[in-house]
Amino acid sequence: MAASDIKSMRLYAHLERIARELAAAGIDPDGALTVDQLSPFDNLHYHGTDAMDRAIQELGIDAGSNIAEVGSGVGGPARYIAERTGCRVTALELQPDLDAVAQKLTRQCGLADRVTHRCGDVLDGPLEAGAFDAVVSWLALYHIADHAALFARIAEALKPSGHLYVEDISSRGDFTAEEAALLRDKLYGQSTPRLEVYGEQLADAGFTDIRLDDLSDDWAQFTHQRVLAYRANRDRHAALHGEETASDIEAFYDTVDRLFQSGKLGGLRAVARLP
Ligand SMILES: C[S@@+](CC[C@H](N)C(=O)[O-])C[C@H]1O[C@@H](n2cnc3c(N)ncnc32)[C@H](O)[C@@H]1O
Repeated sequence: MAASDIKSMRLYAHLERIARELAAAGIDPDGALTVDQLSPFDNLHYHGTDAMDRAIQELGIDAGSNIAEVGSGVGGPARYIAERTGCRVTALELQPDLDAVAQKLTRQCGLADRVTHRCGDVLDGPLEAGAFDAVVSWLALYHIADHAALFARIAEALKPSGHLYVEDISSRGDFTAEEAALLRDKLYGQSTPRLEVYGEQLADAGFTDIRLDDLSDDWAQFTHQRVLAYRANRDRHAALHGEETASDIEAFYDTVDRLFQSGKLGGLRAVARLP
């Protein structure tokens, strides 16, 4: 996959938003930072740090754990997990500009000894084989068309009995041609299986003890509130980030909301392990 194709999803533009938000909060964006200062701005998934707290608890991640995150964005989840538990995290990100921001923020948080950033496509096998106690991922795997190759790569990277913890976009109905185009063009959706198909894909890759939680209704509500909150503060966002950025982000949030409200876009949590 070319890293440039995915830029059709406008959430991945305007990376300077983080520095502007920090400055607006009175924090030097180039100085030392804490994970708590960054958390409102560096998580590109739903429910912020609550999502990682759940993964830490469910997987029993502790200081001795070696974790990989697939599709780590600007590094919010990786830093949070490393900071809260003391574990080591390899943060794998496809897009070089997001990876560069992630590396800088990790250094500013003093976490470079625990969070290793790697830039590349998970399908090319950049994760060491048999190295990880768990692979985690938030809202990244739906960008990858070949789920069979993807889950095989993840299985390869895990130690025996290693765990997979994923939150991902799914389908729960047949999209109209217009909805399918929005999903493809505005969210860079490449693979959004129904929940039961997701389970079959994991089983085919050798995973066992597969649990699938349907998050569709919860995410439909979350993303609806998100666009309403953005609109309510749109003047503030446009003043801080500029009109073009505010329009792009609002349009992205609106598209996600429309797709969830259609009842056809869904969301899931998958927890599984290798034998
Ligand atoms: C919605 S973002 C979520 C980022 C992060 N997980 C978070 O929750 O803050 C998904 C990320 O997955 C990355 N990604 C997509 N395909 C990938 C691939 N084949 N290999 C590695 N990363 C990928 C994207 O570039 C993007 O930064």
